Amino acid sequence: MAGKRVETVESLATQGRLTRLQQAFHEKLGTQCGFCTPGMIMAAEALLRKNPDPSRDEIKAALAGNLCRCTGYVKIIEAVETASGSACQEAAQ
Ligand code: FES
Repeated sequence: MAGKRVETVESLATQGRLTRLQQAFHEKLGTQCGFCTPGMIMAAEALLRKNPDPSRDEIKAALAGNLCRCTGYVKIIEAVETASGSACQEAAQ
């Protein structure tokens, strides 16, 4: 990891203020027990940084390495869609 930057889910919020993605997980009930949530959010964060407006299939592919035994993934995917570029553009209109 020499020369690399490590980010954790705890490092995303600034001064106690959740990011748009974290807020979307909260609002869309993308977390239940919370065990998978840090991995889901960090995978989604990495996706949205590379691709701010991903398709549903791209979201599923980006989250594929994370297992959730509570949500059935629907709410998680909805949360990522809510935080994505197209959802934000729709909300602004
Ligand atoms: S919220 Fe419990 S494992 Fe995903």
